[in-house]
Amino acid sequence: MKYKSVYIAMLSLVSPAAIGQLVHESIPNGRPFPNPSGASSTYSTSGKIDLTGPFFQSMGSNGRSCGSCHQPSDGMSVSATHIQERFDRSEGLDPIFRTVDGSNCNHDIDVSAVEGRRAAYSLLRTRGLIRVAIAVPANADYEIVRIDNPYSCNETDTISQYRRPLPSTNLRFLSAVMFDGRESSPLTSTTKITPQNYPASLESNLRHQSVSATTIHAQGDGTRPTPAEQQQIVNFEMALFTAQTYGRATGSLEARGATGGPKALITQPFFIGVNSQIPAFENPASAPFNPAIFNTFDAYDHLPQRDPRAAIARGQALFNSRPINIREVAGLNDDQAAGGLVPGGIPVIAGFCGTCHDTPNVGNHSFPTPLNIGTGDPNPGDPRVNLGGLDITYLPRITVRSKITGETKNTTDLGQALIDGKFDHVGKIKGPILRGLSARAPYFHNGSAKTLLDVVRFYELRFGVFFSPQEEDDLVAFLSSL
Ligand code: HEC
Ligand code: HEC
Repeated sequence: MKYKSVYIAMLSLVSPAAIGQLVHESIPNGRPFPNPSGASSTYSTSGKIDLTGPFFQSMGSNGRSCGSCHQPSDGMSVSATHIQERFDRSEGLDPIFRTVDGSNCNHDIDVSAVEGRRAAYSLLRTRGLIRVAIAVPANADYEIVRIDNPYSCNETDTISQYRRPLPSTNLRFLSAVMFDGRESSPLTSTTKITPQNYPASLESNLRHQSVSATTIHAQGDGTRPTPAEQQQIVNFEMALFTAQTYGRATGSLEARGATGGPKALITQPFFIGVNSQIPAFENPASAPFNPAIFNTFDAYDHLPQRDPRAAIARGQALFNSRPINIREVAGLNDDQAAGGLVPGGIPVIAGFCGTCHDTPNVGNHSFPTPLNIGTGDPNPGDPRVNLGGLDITYLPRITVRSKITGETKNTTDLGQALIDGKFDHVGKIKGPILRGLSARAPYFHNGSAKTLLDVVRFYELRFGVFFSPQEEDDLVAFLSSL
């Protein structure tokens, strides 16, 4: 029970006022912030997490800063639980609650009283979702046939979609910026990230992203962030590394030879295409694909079976080695596989979790390849759930038709198709970095997985992979410790 008392002592060091509220000028490196599985922490290579820079300043007109949606207490994202707490504390007046994109829709709503605010911000409170509205490109090869949005916002020229804030940390490992890659695309005059232009392209994309975020989320007038402030924001973000650092049942995830926690990420080698199973995505400088993506918890191998750390090691082994037949994933198995790099696609890939989550010890895709695994696609047999059986009744239904073939698709999020106008790209998005997960539930771009167990069950149904109840628990223990 030694770990438990260390854990409780650690929790008492975190003043509740510091969580979600910026009452200090900085947060010391590695300060633990509690979450349901233990605690996460963030480490800045600049020595501390400085809370005085432009990232935490209101640079627009509605009181929001980047920190409104990217909080150190929440792995630099925001958990739905903490958003609900902010609603309760402020009666829905905290700056995250703004109608521009915090409410389910921005018209036909009344937020003058707390009850109106509770209804208007229901998706943000319960699923942590921000409305992302994007215009249909003029040259799109598809047309929008129908939109059923339960909150109005049914316009067919600008589509409202609902997405989780991606964490603004561990950014050194990104191969595309935003779920749909729009801040690494011609649509925003930013640059696709390639092995040749990385990391300069990533940094310039992030500077551009800081401007778009201020103009859109904070309703800025374009004067801030200035070029110097953009660089300060990028320097701040690029210096941050975040991971789970304590487990409720295990104590420190950095102790006894394990390399959990944020510090080990600082020296984690990375380049674009560092570890691809798909030859067309491979960087010639990389070693052959290794499906053992994580070695973070190798030190927990061979512990007695009932030790809680042994469960983490078993979960890591499942992630690293359980075979998954990958089928019907747009971006891998279709003709458009890899943006045409693999003509005809690959009908079935004998893969692993790490086929798509291939960056060593980080778990995002090391090559820019948006994929549609079906998290936003209604199941044709039961449109109330997605292709992995998770409830999606709270999302809009969008029907699109190809102008070329007449084929139609139903989805809740057009993904990359709204960025480049291609019907074949409907629903394609990037897989996020898999560190700091416990700090930022719910999961998937649309918050459809309330827990990591929901995520695991999604994969079981979607890809027909079977995990026993013990294996499900082990995989969740592992993911929760990342
Ligand atoms: C109102 C909430 C909100 C505010 C304020 C906000 N963001 Fe975000 N952020 C999001 C959402 C939602 C996404 C994902 C949207 C998407 O992919 O379509 C995101 C994505 C990002 C990403 C992309 C990470 C990745 O993996 O691609 C970065 C970086 C980021 N935000 C930084 C910032 C910065 C810098 C600011 C301030 C200038 C800011 N954000 C303000 C909600 C917010
Ligand atoms: C075919 C590619 C593919 C495979 C195989 C795959 N994933 Fe994913 N994963 C993705 C994509 C794409 C997303 C983003 C989906 C979304 O946000 O809607 C994702 C998202 C996730 C998330 C949510 C992250 C977050 O921040 O919301 C977790 C956790 C995850 N995957 C774990 C796993 C595990 C565990 C396995 C193996 C059982 C696995 N994945 C197999 C592509 C894949």
